Amino acid sequence: MVKTIKNGHLYWDGCDTVALAEKYGTPLYVMSENGILARTQELHRDFLDKYDNVRVAYASKAFCTLAMCKLMEKAGLALDVVSGGELYTAIQADFPPEHIEFNGNNKSREELVMAIDYGVGRIIVDGLQELALIEAVCAELGKRTQILFRITPEIKADTHDFISTGQKDSKFGIPLNPEILFPQIEAALASEAVDLLGFHFHIGSQLADNSTHLAAAKVALHLALEVKKRYAYELRELNYGGGFGVEYVEGDVRQPYRYFLDPLMALTEAFCDEHQLTRPTIVIEPGRSIVAEAGITLHTIGSIKELPTIRTYASIDGGMTDNIRPGLYQAAYTGLVANKADSATTQVVTISGKACESTDILVKDLAVAPLAAGDLFATFTTGAYGYSMASNYNKLPIPAVVLVKDGKDQLIVKRQSYEQMLQNECLPERW
Ligand code: LLP
Repeated sequence: MVKTIKNGHLYWDGCDTVALAEKYGTPLYVMSENGILARTQELHRDFLDKYDNVRVAYASKAFCTLAMCKLMEKAGLALDVVSGGELYTAIQADFPPEHIEFNGNNKSREELVMAIDYGVGRIIVDGLQELALIEAVCAELGKRTQILFRITPEIKADTHDFISTGQKDSKFGIPLNPEILFPQIEAALASEAVDLLGFHFHIGSQLADNSTHLAAAKVALHLALEVKKRYAYELRELNYGGGFGVEYVEGDVRQPYRYFLDPLMALTEAFCDEHQLTRPTIVIEPGRSIVAEAGITLHTIGSIKELPTIRTYASIDGGMTDNIRPGLYQAAYTGLVANKADSATTQVVTISGKACESTDILVKDLAVAPLAAGDLFATFTTGAYGYSMASNYNKLPIPAVVLVKDGKDQLIVKRQSYEQMLQNECLPERW
């Protein structure tokens, strides 16, 4: 169990969160290594070891640090990166290039040079313009590269609009319109620089139902068949993206990976048998489902403001700067008072952030133990898209990240200092 309660304190992977807050300060992200590994082990058991010719690339955008890249390598996963910065992190972590997949809807020439020079395993190409850029970079570097085309399967996922990506009106992927799609495939097949492996889609995030993945997989499989018919060319790889949901609050469902993957594999194998296609390698790219529930954030309670007959606001020493998700997607969270973890919850408060924004509310109307300034508040399920989306708004420093396992803690990201926040700033010389 990652979460335990001892002597009234919340423990995370065997570590007393109150002691962690004293040692490292707050706000503090705490990531459980055992929590992360439980999810990668489930992926091994129910996918990687169960099916031939499959791969899992961790979508590093969910939580990208040197230590996380290393942990994913040790756990036998590949890595999905979407920017020069994520790629640089992977390179600094010595992540094996052949196991890196480079996504993104607007890769720059510099990013492509970095990726192709490092020898990344795959580039997921988002359109003809990018293909031309890749060809130019390959020519310059005297290299070839393997690619997949990201397609827009034209399926609306049942999730917040802001994290739905596979619908027809999307900035991601190549539309299915044959007049747009097939010339791109022809260009790739004719190219000396690239080896076209297959198609990629990602339909959205935080999905609790497998039907959208299944519908999108059908689209990709039909396209693979069409490519074989038109060009006598068998695609070797299909990437079904990520998007597997997690539990933020009671009522959310975190389905086991097999709930998504078994029907997807059955559909894929049946389709390939029926149409005499060699079953391509199947790749998935989970991000959130690997790290979200393994992470918590610790904040110290400061000002408590009671508005009679309205609500009580309890402010923390962070907020939207370390977790933008409530403000951006109306995401719901839950938490508890970590130093009063077994006390009865007798008070309803709204946990508010310290940024100068009315939307900076972390948790609305939460039942908590009687609160006082100086208490420690722990928010659950903040391991994904928390640290990775943190900002310096109001010039708040990015918090530290500590990795915990079996009662041992290890700092993996130091707290940003005020000096570091200003290190790239200067005054105009003419002053
Ligand atoms: N692959 C691609 C191409 C993606 O665009 C994404 C997420 C993933 C994989 C991983 O999806 P996951 O398994 O994590 O759902 N900031 C938002 C989430 C944006 C996700 C964008 N793409 C949030 O905090 O909910």
